[in-house]
Amino acid sequence: MDGLVQGGASEQTDYLVLGSGIAGLSFALRAAEHGRVLILTKHRSADSNTAWAQGGIAAVLDPTDSVEAHIADTLTVGDGLCHADVVSTYLSQAPAAVRELRERYGVRFDVTADGEWALAREGGHSARRVAHAKDTTGREIERGLLGAVLAHPQITVREGWMGVDLLTLAKYGGPDVCFGAYVLNGDTGQVHTILARATILATGGAGKVYLYTSNPDVATGDGVAMAYRAGAQVGNMEFFQFHPTCLYHPEAKSFLISEALRGEGGVLKLRSGETFMERYHPMKSLAPRDVVARAIDFELKRTGDEHVVLDMRHLPPEFLSERFPAIFARCLEFGIDMRKQAIPVVPAAHYSCGGVVTDVDGRTRVAGLLAIGEVAMTGLHGACRLASNSLLEGLVMGQRAADVVRDATVEFPPQVTPWISGDARDPNEAVVVTQNWDEVRRLMWNYVGIVRTDRRLERARRRIELIREEIREYYWDFKVTADLLELRNLALCAHLIIDCAQRRRESRGLHYNADHPERSPEFLGDTVVQRDSGPNAR
Ligand code: SIN
Repeated sequence: MDGLVQGGASEQTDYLVLGSGIAGLSFALRAAEHGRVLILTKHRSADSNTAWAQGGIAAVLDPTDSVEAHIADTLTVGDGLCHADVVSTYLSQAPAAVRELRERYGVRFDVTADGEWALAREGGHSARRVAHAKDTTGREIERGLLGAVLAHPQITVREGWMGVDLLTLAKYGGPDVCFGAYVLNGDTGQVHTILARATILATGGAGKVYLYTSNPDVATGDGVAMAYRAGAQVGNMEFFQFHPTCLYHPEAKSFLISEALRGEGGVLKLRSGETFMERYHPMKSLAPRDVVARAIDFELKRTGDEHVVLDMRHLPPEFLSERFPAIFARCLEFGIDMRKQAIPVVPAAHYSCGGVVTDVDGRTRVAGLLAIGEVAMTGLHGACRLASNSLLEGLVMGQRAADVVRDATVEFPPQVTPWISGDARDPNEAVVVTQNWDEVRRLMWNYVGIVRTDRRLERARRRIELIREEIREYYWDFKVTADLLELRNLALCAHLIIDCAQRRRESRGLHYNADHPERSPEFLGDTVVQRDSGPNAR
């Protein structure tokens, strides 16, 4: 084959973890009790969706609340597609796991004057059950876990490294077994081969597939794309959650206005000051997210306004700055004083309820490959995720996955081919990457957003195939870079979202198709897709 070996060194570890959010860190701390863990993270360790989570982590921590009520709320919001066994397992484990964050890893959750958990309420919850650290809960959890990870002698963390593709025996004529990954060292541009007894995808979500998102730049769907290429099943990608309230300001990129504000009494209004949520759901501004996001979308289209507002002005001014210091400060930077002005907000892509299909312990159909946290589709969220159930899923899954890989074994092929890049010239056509990147995100926003139609989905499908073709040509001609890898992954995720959305000819949870506005019993199941694995799967 023509081409240059872009390959760096080959090495071996017990557990290779891609991603450093709550799921990856929770896995690493538990797995390090029985093996060596190598965590690779694309940017800095603390750059993850987890660190951006504001609201908190849901768990039953108040004696007047019950796990049964938490389960019931999750199932209601999940709109018929939650896997009841998974819901019950995770939510029963959640209280102990959250307590452990505080007691073992020193996470500073807010407490009441009596030293009890200060619990917030969010959309779709029938009780206050969201443990939080002001409005920067994710950052505080990440701080606690990362501190322990960095101090652990069995765990190595490398920043600026990203997965390129998974290594599977299928590529050597064997079964669907994963034994590590090709990974790019962003500093040297070399692709290394890392062999592992178990490979764990903890790469988070794919919010960057949409033009407007609450997610950080790292959320490019890398894990879903790599797993799909390696022959794992991917499911329910049509259920992309749009958070109803992101800050609307020309210079405010991706800034979330937490649902916890509505939990404390914030009221959604039109720009005219009129309330509207009572027309859509009895829980009004605290209705489940899919309902609120669609209501806002509808009202914006009806009125022609560019945003709605979240009014907090009826709450005590000192409470606002004390309970939500980060949001308060960020709004002030943009000249918005939430004590005196209603906050302009719009919906934005927030969370992927779909992902790599796994069992309750994170196992995929490819032996040796696990997926945990947002990258996975376990059945916890069904057709719509209940607020603050995601951090708890990552936390609990990380622990469970670590327990099941304890005795994992894999036979490595006698010789592993180093990474070869097409002609391996330096990329001098970077414009292809930026052009396609913008096009994917814009077309997904316009055609595959909060409200879909058959025609829009078909248009999106045709366009994304052309873009993918162009990326494929470019990919095999040029040396890989992080930008190119992300674009390739993002475009594949876009394809998977469209594909799943076209298969679901009904409206349910987060998937709303105006041509099929009702639920249909025919679609009371997951949408699962899988590509051919084998020697030519690239
Ligand atoms: C929020 O703070 O509104 C986000 C919480 C979540 O996505 O669960």
